[in-house]
Order: sequence, then C-alpha cells, then structure tokens
Amino acid sequence: MPRLTAAQRHPVHFMLNGHPAHLEAEPRLLATDALRHSIGLTGTHVGCEHGVCGACTIQIDGVPARACLTLAIQLEGCEVRTVEGLAPAPDRLSVLQDAFRRHHALHCGFCTAGILMSVDAFLKAAPDPDEAQVRDVVGGHLCRCTGYTAIVAAVLDAAAILRGSDAHV
Ligand code: FES
Ligand code: FES
Repeated sequence: MPRLTAAQRHPVHFMLNGHPAHLEAEPRLLATDALRHSIGLTGTHVGCEHGVCGACTIQIDGVPARACLTLAIQLEGCEVRTVEGLAPAPDRLSVLQDAFRRHHALHCGFCTAGILMSVDAFLKAAPDPDEAQVRDVVGGHLCRCTGYTAIVAAVLDAAAILRGSDAHV
C-alpha cells in the first residue's frame, strides 16, 4: 500500500479474533480492505461492495456486520471476529463449519465465510431455530451455487448438535 502522510494516518486499535490488532488507516479505508490487505486475513470475501451479497460479513461486538459498509476507523475499540476466528484450533472445525462440510453446504465457497459469520451469531441468539428462521437468516446472503437447501440443513444440524441433541447422527 502507498505510504500515508501523518495527516492521513489514524491509529485504530481493536481486538481481532481474540488478539490485539493495530493498524494505521486513512478515514476512507474500508474494513474489508483493512482486514484483507493491511492485516492479511483474506477469509473475509468481497463481492458486491455495497451491502447486498453478504460475502464480507464479519462480527463486530458479536453482531454481524457488512465489512464493505464499515470503515476501518469504526473498528476502534471493538471486538472483531472474522471467519478465521471460528475454528477452535488450527486442526479442528467449529460445529457449524463441520456441519457445512458434512452437508456439502458449499460449492465454490465464495459466500461461505459471510454465511458462517451470520449464522454463528444467529445460533447464539436463537439456539433452537425453525427452518423458516434459518431461511430468513441465510436469505441475507447471495449464494449462486447451492440452492440453499444444504445450507439450511447444515444450520439446523449444527443447532441440534449445539443443543446437545443426537439429531446429527
Ligand atoms: S461485499 Fe459486502 S455485502 Fe457484498
Ligand atoms: S457456494 Fe458458491 S456462491 Fe455459495
């Protein structure tokens, strides 16, 4: 990236996937570009860049947010979570990620990170959703590959597992 002048630089401090993060950002820098290019976490995807497709969804203070509509300087002091923060360990998937894997709920995967971030937050607020609720949440994301059926099945399966049910067996 081109070097910023002192007048253009704004320090931004936040927590990123549980770790302190810091960058110097122009006021116009988008959170997507900060995450992907300044920090190097490319799991957050960029599709439409105007809030429609959902590919760029991250969590800010636990709430799903379109990173393409968020300025990097708005992350100051926030708890930010990206798809890189979902897995509990480098060699383990989260329950939700594993349900997507088992149900073949992704094809090209371009939409997947954003959907995972929305659904992860949704299941914390609504641990026992019905299919209509799940369709409502994933309907905020554009997926051109799957037809959504496998995504809905994966989310319902993950919810059941997280509730301690054996519905996934
Ligand atoms: S890239 Fe942000 S909603 Fe499409
Ligand atoms: S898996 Fe390709 S866009 Fe959703």
